[in-house]
Amino acid sequence: MSVAAIVPAAGSGDRLGGGIPKAFRLLAGTTLLRRSADAVATSVDLVVVAVPADRRDADWRNAAVAALEGAACPTRVVAGGASRQASVAAALAVLPPDVDVVLVHDAARPLMPPAVVAAVIAAVRAGAPGVIPALAVPDTLKSVDASGRVLRTVDRTGLVAVQTPQGFRRDVLERAHRADPGVATDDAALVEALGIPVLTVPGDPAGFKITTPYDVVLAEALLGGGR
Ligand code: CTP
Ligand code: MG
Repeated sequence: MSVAAIVPAAGSGDRLGGGIPKAFRLLAGTTLLRRSADAVATSVDLVVVAVPADRRDADWRNAAVAALEGAACPTRVVAGGASRQASVAAALAVLPPDVDVVLVHDAARPLMPPAVVAAVIAAVRAGAPGVIPALAVPDTLKSVDASGRVLRTVDRTGLVAVQTPQGFRRDVLERAHRADPGVATDDAALVEALGIPVLTVPGDPAGFKITTPYDVVLAEALLGGGR
């Protein structure tokens, strides 16, 4: 049984800013891409990274190859797409035939602990078609209208926030992407749309997604704190 990880890294990082794709931004001297790939590389047999397919396509490819040099497993770089979903599909298309378990891990989650990665893989190996790390939602949730006026308080019972890596049986993830029910923000949503069960395992707060400049400050503080 061979395991591959897809790392979608083709986003522009508009909310973070900085003028270069988010995956190539440095976190305490190392790219987000390398840190996120390292988070999964010790647990898988291959990492496939999707980089921006813009005018500088070749530059991003070269930058990714350089960033991944010396990684714990073989790596491959492909051009991504206009949506996260399209980027994952582009990487899925180049997986070798022997791969039967696929993880999808955001390039924007550099600090996800290996124990969560291992738990996701173990649950897929144990027979789950799809497995995602989830955390309880700590804040009270409100539904609001366009002007910000509160419509109602949402019952938090049974709600979780989900992270990556998300793990799937390869055939399940391929079927889900072929079915393509519009633009989903995660891969599990595509699998759910087929009516296939998706399980959760405990996530870890350290696996938060780098989205805004605040997240960079937080992540660098955690790294400086001896992690
Ligand atoms: N992603 C991708 N291809 C896209 C869009 C997103 O591979 N066309 C990837 C990002 O590189 C990131 C992950 O999906 O690793 C999660 O997306 P997000 O955090 O939204 O990153 P960006 O889209 O880059 O950020 P923003 O939405 O702020 O522009
Ligand atoms: Mg985005």
